[in-house]
Amino acid sequence: MNTLLVYAHPNPLSFNAALAKVVQEEISKLGGPIKVKDLYAMNFNPVLSEKDFQGYHTGQVGEDVKQEQADVAWADLVILLGPVWWHSVPAIMKGYIDRVFSIGFAYKYTRQGPEGLLKGKKGLLITTSGSDQKAAEKTGMLTTLQNSLAGATFGFTGFQEYKHHNFFAVPTVSDEERKQMLTDMRELIKNFA
Ligand SMILES: Cc1cc2nc3c(=O)[nH]c(=O)nc-3n(C[C@H](O)[C@H](O)[C@H](O)COP(=O)(O)O)c2cc1C
Repeated sequence: MNTLLVYAHPNPLSFNAALAKVVQEEISKLGGPIKVKDLYAMNFNPVLSEKDFQGYHTGQVGEDVKQEQADVAWADLVILLGPVWWHSVPAIMKGYIDRVFSIGFAYKYTRQGPEGLLKGKKGLLITTSGSDQKAAEKTGMLTTLQNSLAGATFGFTGFQEYKHHNFFAVPTVSDEERKQMLTDMRELIKNFA
């Protein structure tokens, strides 16, 4: 199974960086190839431009988007990993979705309604939050992430199967609990990949 890990965190010493390492280790143990898109390290341009817009409709997308789309097309499993920022993901990841999951590549509109073009793939959205589960449920954060990210990207573009998992209260739990989260991350990959 070809895996694409799209990862967004500016700090290489963050908990998210530890999760990204664990994902790569587990996928490698399963024997499948993995490509990693560390969006901050790549200095990925997240701004969907006028040129991008024209490109989508003429089939002439720029080289950076073309390369990312080739890697999404290559992947059987796409993993989006990052912290929750304002009930969403960091803007650099949002911009990656804006530019790469574009019309004509990831979906199209038909008379019968929108049609996803990325059929047969699996998607995993992994997020970490400052909020604990109770607070996240109370504010609707979990439902927002499920609908606006997992549903609106993987679901809308035709993925066969997708899942969202959030690790709660990351900054305030104990080191032991964070270690357990890394173990849980390993299990999640084993069970889903
Ligand atoms: C700009 C910004 C916005 C944030 N917004 C939220 C939020 O909406 N909900 C939440 O639960 N935590 C929020 N947080 C907390 C982060 O999600 C949390 O610190 C992070 O997941 C911990 O992982 P890390 O140590 O890898 O950064 C925010 C943090 C930052 C820096």
